[in-house]
Parts: sequence; structure tokens; C-alpha cells
Amino acid sequence: MDLTNAQAHGRELFTHNCATCHTLAASNAVGLVGPNLDNLRPNEALVLNAIHQGRARGQGQMPANLVTAQDAKDVAAYVSAVAGR
Ligand code: HEC
Repeated sequence: MDLTNAQAHGRELFTHNCATCHTLAASNAVGLVGPNLDNLRPNEALVLNAIHQGRARGQGQMPANLVTAQDAKDVAAYVSAVAGR
């Protein structure tokens, strides 16, 4: 799939900030701490919400604001575009 510039930037950020904990085939990520994003297929708003607030509902924990501002939007645009595809 062709990525926009923002999504391509989000892909880089995902590798550095998210891949250790999440599985996402488009990034060759196989993290098992958080939910498998290919199965979850979160929309952009849900990804942004998880980034802004962090998550600590179940097992494990996702710190808030691993990426911020435009970076957070770019990661959300990327994940929502590629998850499950
Ligand atoms: C230290 C491990 C860790 C990192 C790093 C991490 N996450 Fe998570 N993430 C988790 C865990 C654990 C959960 C689920 C927590 C729970 O049980 O609610 C989660 C949940 C999520 C969810 C689902 C939210 C929901 O409400 O269903 C999304 C989307 C998500 N993360 C995206 C990301 C993105 C994007 C990044 C990088 C900016 C990232 N995560 C980095 C551990 C991590």
C-alpha cells in the first residue's frame, strides 16, 4: 500500500515507540505486551486516545504520550491505515 508522507513518518515512529509491545504486520512488529493491532483494527481516534491517555486496563501498561502533537497524529494515521491489511 502507498503511504502518505504523514503515514510514512508514522511508520518510523511506530517502529521506535510502539513495536516492542504491539503486533502489526505492516511494520513487521511482533510485540505481545499490548493487543495485536491487526486483530483490533483501531480507527484513528482510538489510536490517538490510547496515545494521549495511555492504557492500563488489563495486564501490562502503556505509558501516555509516547509520541505527541503531530507525531501522535502521524502514528494514528499510519496504524489506522494499515492494521489488519
Ligand atoms: C510498554 C508497552 C506498550 C507500548 C510501548 C505501547 N503500547 Fe499500546 N498498549 C499496551 C497495552 C498493555 C495495551 C492494553 C492495555 C489494556 O489492557 O487496556 C495497549 C493498548 C493499545 C491500543 C488499544 C486501545 C484500546 O482502547 O483498545 C492501541 C490502539 C495502542 N495500544 C496503540 C499503541 C501505539 C500507537 C503505540 C506507540 C505510540 C503504543 N501503543 C505503545 C502496551 C504498549
